[in-house]
Amino acid sequence: MKFKKRTHTCGELREINIGQTVTLNGWVDSRRDLGGVIFIDLRDRYGITQIVFEPNYNSKAHEEAKDLRNEWVLSVTGKVRRRPEGTENPNLETGLIDVMIDEVTVLNKAQTPPFPIEDKIETSEEIRLKYRYLDLRRRPMQKNLILRHKMYQIVRKYFDENNFLEIETPFLMKSTPEGARDFLVPSRLHKGHFYALPQSPQTYKQILMVAGFDRYFQIVKCFRDEDLRADRQYEFTQIDVEMSFVDEEDIFNMVEGLMKRLYKEALGVDIQTPFPRLSYRDAIEFYGSDKPDLRFDLKMVNLNSVFAQSEFRLFADAVKKGGIVSGLNAKGCGNYTRNQIDVLTDFVKRLGSGGLIWIRVTENGLESPTLKFFSEKEQTELREKMNAETGDLILIQAGEWKKALSIMGSLRLEMAKRMNLIKDNSEPKILWVTDFPLFEYSEEEKRLVAMHHPFTSPKDEDIDLMSTDPLKVKAKAYDLVLNGNEIAGGSIRINTPEIQSKMFEALGISKEEAEEKFGFLLNAFKYGAPPHGGIAFGFDRMVMLFAGENSIRDVIAFPKTSNGISLMDNAPSPVNPEQLKELHIKIV
Ligand code: AMO
Repeated sequence: MKFKKRTHTCGELREINIGQTVTLNGWVDSRRDLGGVIFIDLRDRYGITQIVFEPNYNSKAHEEAKDLRNEWVLSVTGKVRRRPEGTENPNLETGLIDVMIDEVTVLNKAQTPPFPIEDKIETSEEIRLKYRYLDLRRRPMQKNLILRHKMYQIVRKYFDENNFLEIETPFLMKSTPEGARDFLVPSRLHKGHFYALPQSPQTYKQILMVAGFDRYFQIVKCFRDEDLRADRQYEFTQIDVEMSFVDEEDIFNMVEGLMKRLYKEALGVDIQTPFPRLSYRDAIEFYGSDKPDLRFDLKMVNLNSVFAQSEFRLFADAVKKGGIVSGLNAKGCGNYTRNQIDVLTDFVKRLGSGGLIWIRVTENGLESPTLKFFSEKEQTELREKMNAETGDLILIQAGEWKKALSIMGSLRLEMAKRMNLIKDNSEPKILWVTDFPLFEYSEEEKRLVAMHHPFTSPKDEDIDLMSTDPLKVKAKAYDLVLNGNEIAGGSIRINTPEIQSKMFEALGISKEEAEEKFGFLLNAFKYGAPPHGGIAFGFDRMVMLFAGENSIRDVIAFPKTSNGISLMDNAPSPVNPEQLKELHIKIV
């Protein structure tokens, strides 16, 4: 089809264009027929321009405009004019002008879309995902993907300027367990053998360090078959980074520089560096989470010293067994009704707690069903430690250290919501969480597992503890946390065979198993592995937070639903028996 190509985009025309003859190409965003005159808002990704069909100006064009409908694709030619006084639209960048149309060509018609192409719609996410191409026409989605693009470019430029090389690593790799379940790809040529899609390029980037590419980065898809959530997809994008001849400080510096640049250039916001650091232990103890949200204070308080000798068995036992009694002061919530408190109790019970101890601070002193168990001294110390004032509500959890504090951490977030402590316009709160344990005990597997991955280096001073008291060993590992979201994680790696063997030993991985699973990496390390370390950002999460969205699905062009389905193209789907046969696969 021959058609007139645009001279300008739909977001471009301004006062200086008045009087010019222009051609625009775009979609009908809306159409108003005011009897005599027809107004159409013509849309493309750059903006909206009002075009006008007037019978006195051009009766043929006006006649043709009567048939036009929403989402039809047009090429129009006409003259730019200043809008009549009083009809300017200050909300549109092109709002001072419109275009009087002489010629209109319909490039394509469109069915009536299943939902309006508007900023705010009530449509379910399922329908939006099924018709994603229409959803993506909406301004907020366009803005998100444009922001995402901008962020890729800033990232690439930053790392290039800092001497990093962008190197691609394979998507078809050996299955090397990294924590989540692998996506497997059957081999046609090698019957019964499978490739795995990378959960991350972890092993490759370490091997690139052995190969001498001392600064590597990649914006790369990673694949993990794990339960999906608002901040998790099967395939997601990492900014993956690895550096040689570095320690933690070098990684922190490089990352802080990137974050500063991203905030400045993508959002026009200045942020302070260096970022504050919080040890894993303190993060759990004060905020009940290894990704604490510091946009509000609401700090948890260790009450062990108050209740170590308490008559209240729950508290005294928790302290005796090395656990915790942890308190949270919900300021001004002393007027919560019994019903409201019951809701909070149910909330912690659902998380596996036995119940919630609560204490109102009133003019007449403390009020609580459990008060009778607390001595005068305990009450005084409790008030002091909790900084309690009349009108406050003190909430307490006691029990095993990690479990009780995690529940308390969830309650902290819940209370922040109820108390409306998170403001939309609050400054971004970024911090490093450091000093992670090297190992954690897996109840499921009844053995130690690596908290980060098995190539993470222990702190130098803790190496001897690896064989004597492994749960005490701290790792050279770190996470970057933004507004309560883990947006990046990494570590300094092990680069000597001695420590790597100790690591496998502690994990209960035999020499043979290590050889079979990671032999290629261990081999590479025999040929001069430099000290190295790195980090990977969850890029989708970062874009989500920059865009002010609550789900990474809103910053991914074609995401899966929470049960792993692509509603637009209906993946996953059955395949024909021939394909299966070729792959030596039988469905049972
Ligand atoms: P990690 O597993 O912590 O580290 O992943 C890095 C970051 O990726 C993001 N992320 C996800 N985002 C969306 N959907 C998912 N399913 C998902 N899983 C993780 C998180 C996380 O912080 N190889 C190491 C990094 C390293 O040690 O250098 C790694 O992959 O924001």
